[in-house]
Amino acid sequence: MSKRSGPLAPGVAFITGGARGLGNAIAVSFAKEGARGIVLVDIQDEKAFQEGKRKVEEIGTECLTIFADVTKEADVERAVAEAVAKFGRIDYAANFAGISGTSDTISDMNLELWQKAQDVNATGILVATKYEMRQMMKQDSIDGVEKGRIPQSGSIINCASVNSLQTMPSTAAYTASKHACAGITKAAALEGRPHNIRVNAVSPGFLLTDLVKPIEQTDAGKILWDGFVQRQGRVALFEEVGDAVVLMSIPRMSLVNGHNLFIDNGFTINEGTT
Ligand SMILES: NC(=O)c1ccc[n+]([C@@H]2O[C@H](COP(=O)([O-])OP(=O)(O)OC[C@H]3O[C@@H](n4cnc5c(N)ncnc54)[C@H](O)[C@@H]3O)[C@@H](O)[C@H]2O)c1
Repeated sequence: MSKRSGPLAPGVAFITGGARGLGNAIAVSFAKEGARGIVLVDIQDEKAFQEGKRKVEEIGTECLTIFADVTKEADVERAVAEAVAKFGRIDYAANFAGISGTSDTISDMNLELWQKAQDVNATGILVATKYEMRQMMKQDSIDGVEKGRIPQSGSIINCASVNSLQTMPSTAAYTASKHACAGITKAAALEGRPHNIRVNAVSPGFLLTDLVKPIEQTDAGKILWDGFVQRQGRVALFEEVGDAVVLMSIPRMSLVNGHNLFIDNGFTINEGTT
């Protein structure tokens, strides 16, 4: 036995929604832990892609950007193929493409807006998981797994939300899509298990990304947001989600499969006002 050394996450990371926000924070965390390649998949404009890529490259890590819409199977299939053409394999996938969807109440639900939330947050997770798993099923284990430990052909982390457990009025579309994400993750975990592929979800608390900034733009929304932060105990940092995803992705987490990790500083267990 000897002390462990070397990079924590030396493989290739493939991140949907990777150009900005939490997805980009994950990319930066993977780069800091020694990933040899990062792939950012998104539908952002060139400026956002370049900014996301710059943050990875300034750590000294090679970064590929791919414009692909996770609701379109052909796009995701192409993105995986391009990533593999460049880096040879995908070791860690993080599916963080998502939208907040409509705040319609159920009695007033616009079905097109409902469907859009399901398309991105549920079907998008399914499609990304599908093509990432297909690639991982073809791969041998990542190198460097400790002797006697379980090999890992790949790890997939799907982004759910505290809304995969609980809900609020006017969030039916988002809540349903995030429950679906948690469900897809559980089934995928059992299907991936025989292939040494782990599939887990994470549920971040409340982070002031571009996705949620519109909430803060009204007085009522600001009060609501402040309440979320208070229940969470403090403001959360994007890199706290990034680092948790990296740690969950490494082969040392071999027995953690089909889990939904709440990264929320106790938000979901806090029934009190502090
Ligand atoms: N910010 C929070 O408080 C919070 C909390 C819980 C969960 N989440 C989840 O985190 C994930 C990332 O969101 P964020 O907060 O970083 O917001 P964000 O808007 O900064 O990032 C989401 C990214 O997904 C991309 N995207 C949207 N639709 C896409 C599509 N069809 N194909 C490809 N990419 C697409 C966007 O372009 C964007 O870059 C989402 O799934 C969101 O639901 C966020």
